[in-house]
Formats: sequence, C-alpha cells, structure tokens
Amino acid sequence: MRGYTAHMIVLGIESSCDETGVALVQANPSSADSFHRLPVLLGQALHSQIEMHQAYGGVVPELASRDHIRRVIPLTESVMTQSGIQAREIDVVAYTRGPGLAGALLVGAGVAAGLASAWQIPMLGVHHLEGHLLSPFLSEHPPAFPFVALLVSGGHTQLMRVNSVGDYALLGETIDDAAGEAFDKSAKLLGLPYPGGPALARLAMQGDPRAFALPRPLLNSGNLDFSFAGLKTAVLTQTQRLGAAVPDRVADLAASTQAAIVDVLVKKSIKALVQTGLKRLVVAGGVGANRSLREQLNANCSAQGVQVHYPELHLCTDNGAMIAMAAAMRIQALPGVRLTRGDAFTVRPRWPLHQLSENH
Ligand code: KG4
Ligand code: ZN
Repeated sequence: MRGYTAHMIVLGIESSCDETGVALVQANPSSADSFHRLPVLLGQALHSQIEMHQAYGGVVPELASRDHIRRVIPLTESVMTQSGIQAREIDVVAYTRGPGLAGALLVGAGVAAGLASAWQIPMLGVHHLEGHLLSPFLSEHPPAFPFVALLVSGGHTQLMRVNSVGDYALLGETIDDAAGEAFDKSAKLLGLPYPGGPALARLAMQGDPRAFALPRPLLNSGNLDFSFAGLKTAVLTQTQRLGAAVPDRVADLAASTQAAIVDVLVKKSIKALVQTGLKRLVVAGGVGANRSLREQLNANCSAQGVQVHYPELHLCTDNGAMIAMAAAMRIQALPGVRLTRGDAFTVRPRWPLHQLSENH
C-alpha cells in the first residue's frame, strides 16, 4: 500500500449516527516540512436526518441506515464537484469505523470499500471520537500539542490528555450518562423536541439558572469522572412537584439544568488542567456548541492563563470533515498507519478511544 505523500487527498465519510457527512481534505503541500503542516479542507457536504427522526422523538437506527444509503453517493458527488476534484486524484478513502450504530456504520464502511475497490486506492477506518478530537485543527486558530481535551458528545463525556496524534490518555469519563444525553433526556422531560440539547439551550436563555438547585454529582469526587444520570431524575422530580405549573417554569428549569451540566464540565476541565499542568484545552463534540459552556470555559480558563480551542460551530456536531481530517493527520503523523484494501472491512460499534493503537 502507498504511504504518505505531501499532496495526498483524502475522502472522508461519516455515517455513525444521524448525519451523513462527506468531505475532501488535502495534506498541505505548500511547505518543505510538510509533516508539520496541517491538512486543509477542500470541500464538504452534510445531510442531517433530524427532521426524519423528530417524529419518533429520537434516532431510529433502521431508518438512519436506510437514509445513509440514499444520501452518501449524491453527497460524495457534490463534494467532488464543489472541490473540482476527480476520482483519479483521490488517494485514500476514510470512513468512520466506530463507535456508533452498527447498521449506520456498515453503510459508510461498505460505500468506502466500494469506492476504494473501484478507484483502486486504500482505505482507512477512523475512530469517530478521534475525528471530534482533531476537528479543532480545521479551525482558524488550531491548537498545538499537548493539550487537555474535553470530549462532550451525545454518547461520550471524557477528559483526555492528548500528547500527539494517536497518543491519548484517558483522565476521566462519565460513569453513566453522557453530557449530551443529560441535555437530551432532560429536554424530553420538559417536553422539548429531539434533538433536545440545542432546544434546551435556546429555552435556557430565557430562564434563571439559579431558580432550581439541581445536583452536581461527583463535583468533589477527587477524580475526573462524571455522573449525569441523577440529574434527569432530579429534573423529573421537579416536573412532578410543579405539575400543572411546569409550563410557567420551563425556562427556569432548562436554565438550571444547563447550569448544572456546564458547572460540572467546567470545574472538572479546570481540575484536569491543574492536574496535568497543561495550559491548553480543546473542546470537541456536539455539546461543545453550547454557548453557555463556551462562555463559562472562556471566563474560567482565561483566569487560569489557559487557552481554549473549539471546532468551528458547524463542525461541533457530526460531519465528514473531521473524519477526513483525522485520517489525513493520522497518515501524515504516523508512518506505520495501516491502510487496508477495499475488499474487506470491519466496523466497531463499541470502541473505546484508548484502545486505538498507532496502526489499529
Ligand atoms: O457529537 P454529536 O453530534 O454526536 C455524537 O457523536 O453523539 O453530539 C450530539 C449531542 C446531542 O446530545 C445534542 O443534544 C448535543 O450534542 N448538542 C448540544 C448542543 N448542540 C448539540 N447540547 C447542548 N447545547 C447545544 N447547543
Ligand atoms: Zn459525534
């Protein structure tokens, strides 16, 4: 299999959950020292299934898989046209190998394998969370290694020490629900539509974050783990207590819920920075789009002399650009990375990030 070349173009396909994302990135050819230059985004296209799943109040896996099948090829064609890139110019096809919904992952992996076979190029399975983790490198002010990463998505909440591409040490994680899940489940209890996180955040802007004293579990646990399952129970108790008065207090409840989640995320991130002695924080994953989280992190981190980096807002939630980027950075930084052929592929619906080795 071919290794890294300075002009390498990578096609990335994301299909792990309810977004079909496709993108093209190019390893930066403009520097003599191209190993240290970041790849650049040539184009991307995204289709969100939110509207389709909304009627069911959450993601329906079978519908997700079928929709990915419908969308992925037209999106790929659109990205290639938009970027002016021909099939023969593409060097590698990257796809999300896991974690995620098995059927949804198989669509992306299957299409990637088909394209790799047809174009006679290798492919690379990417870890979805590594995609999120490296997505801030696509922003105007990319971070530098090493840094602490706060990964906050619908399925994961983790603090990590990131030393370099592929070198990730877990510092702490949720022992039950993820932060995004806490947003989504609380939103559902408040009668808000799926996806609950952004809806709850919007409503919270009109409420008082101190109106209800909701629990901040494990805040003083002495370690960097999180627990959010108790929060939804507390929200449920409050809604039961309020009964018919819920509609009058729903904005206050939303603001108080958001404040509890944000408070824990900020305090634990600061703790991780103090513990590691690092002065850089990278926030990634869907909850990273939350405005209150960004405000609180910015205020607390600047007080500690810490720089915070976020992905561009539209790259916080799932997208193809982060998958193409992670693949390109991995190929560029790790010469031993194992590219595979399109005649065989696997997906890993459950795949802890710390099990990701240099060449998986
Ligand atoms: O990273 P992501 O797109 O998908 C996963 O890999 O899980 O994250 C989706 C999660 C959902 O739980 C969604 O409610 C949450 O991110 N989210 C938000 C916001 N935007 C997305 N949560 C709070 N505030 C937001 N603005
Ligand atoms: Zn994600």
